[in-house]
Amino acid sequence: MSNSNNLNTTQIRQAPGPRGLPLIGNVLDIRGNMLDVLTNLHRGYGDLVTFRLAHLQYYSINHPDFAKQVLLTNKDNYEKDGRSSQQIRLLAGQSLLTDNGDSWYHKRRLLQTTFRIDTVKKFKDVVATESDWLIENWRQTNGPIDIHSAMMHLTYQVIGKSLISEDLTHTTEQVASSMEISLRHLYKRIFGIAFPLTIPTLGNQRFKKERQHLHHIVDDILLRRLSNKQHHTNDLLDKMISAQQSEAMFDSVWLRDEVVTLLLAGHETTANALSWVWYLLAQHPDVEQKVYDEICVHFNGPVDDVEKLSNLTYTMQVFYEAIRLYPPIWAIERNALEADEMGGYEIAKGSTLFISIYTLHRHPEFWQDANQFRPERFDNMRNASMAYMPFGLGPRMCLGKNFAIQEALIVLVYLMQQCRLQLADNKTAVPEPGITLRVRDKLMMNIKWRK
Ligand code: HEM
Repeated sequence: MSNSNNLNTTQIRQAPGPRGLPLIGNVLDIRGNMLDVLTNLHRGYGDLVTFRLAHLQYYSINHPDFAKQVLLTNKDNYEKDGRSSQQIRLLAGQSLLTDNGDSWYHKRRLLQTTFRIDTVKKFKDVVATESDWLIENWRQTNGPIDIHSAMMHLTYQVIGKSLISEDLTHTTEQVASSMEISLRHLYKRIFGIAFPLTIPTLGNQRFKKERQHLHHIVDDILLRRLSNKQHHTNDLLDKMISAQQSEAMFDSVWLRDEVVTLLLAGHETTANALSWVWYLLAQHPDVEQKVYDEICVHFNGPVDDVEKLSNLTYTMQVFYEAIRLYPPIWAIERNALEADEMGGYEIAKGSTLFISIYTLHRHPEFWQDANQFRPERFDNMRNASMAYMPFGLGPRMCLGKNFAIQEALIVLVYLMQQCRLQLADNKTAVPEPGITLRVRDKLMMNIKWRK
């Protein structure tokens, strides 16, 4: 591995990839469902594939060593400033998720103590309360429920109560719909034509309206907190407000953007993960029974002691396997600041790299029967080689990993003790790549009560 200073361009080759057309490049090859596109590029051209969208050079990375080079060993050469980050900034500004350099580092340091494994434990009761609420709500419901929207509601409430001590029930519908419309628009702009927001296309206008709704909701929360001087919850929001009031680099726009980011990053991903878990359990009743049995051995009712979650080894494997098959963040994007070399191929300066988590997680060299749901493959966690990175890798690894895993396990413990969820129809759930990997349609399930 090398950087531009010692790169000998005469010895290294162009990475393989589909031949493009003049001017537009590979625009026609990169159409349709991106999971299929990335899978076909991997099958057709190997672990490092290059393609061009108009004048922009891209690489799709399908090997753990290459991913490690970008995210860890030569991380300083790769910045988070590609088209995805630029688009997400339109919604969530220059927050921890999209920032770079010193400014990113300060934000990470400010936020990360809240997400340490010991600190996250204190959020257990919030997840428990929200799970109980959901069960009560379901008991009063007849007919099938949409599990995806239920999980979105639950994780949104959990993130609100845990990080900013807010009951967000009254905003759930609005946020769900505004987030969905906004994220769809931004995703279209990543791979399609992105007219400046000042040009009033229908899509741009709609996006700006939905973004305004989201900003209003967050601004209201901030206004309430700032005007209530007695209010000291010592939560993450308090911490961010005092940083904003004492350090010039954190301004009020940042404060709003960071809250939007946490609401977005903290609920979409975990909700998607849980939706896929429920879908896979419903499809594999034998696995579901084993999870239920394991939960019954360790819990009889509420999660009294959060430490006991570590006994749920099989349940954990199910969760890991679900996010192997359906990683909520299905690709990580970086830009090459300087030219680099990767496995004998050139990485062009200024190009964009997609670390394709989806194809890495199904790479036949690292995963046997890669497309099959087999939680036992995680029996020995060391088997989860570098070809497994649902939470990313390196210093920009997911901030909320501990939070998400604890939340998912508690939700499973509460819901599994009460009921079984069975698919209401025989439709196969289709993964839809967007900013996160969602289930394409509603995921309708029937509830069978155990008690
Ligand atoms: C199953 C659930 C989750 C998955 C699979 C997931 C996945 C990821 C991945 C792959 C990244 C790295 C992106 C990159 O390197 O460009 C990331 C970053 C991030 N995640 Fe998560 N995430 C999850 C849950 C959460 C939760 C619950 C929170 C917050 C409460 C959160 C907050 C963040 C933040 C703030 C970053 C940016 C960190 C940085 O750049 O320093 N995530 N996540």
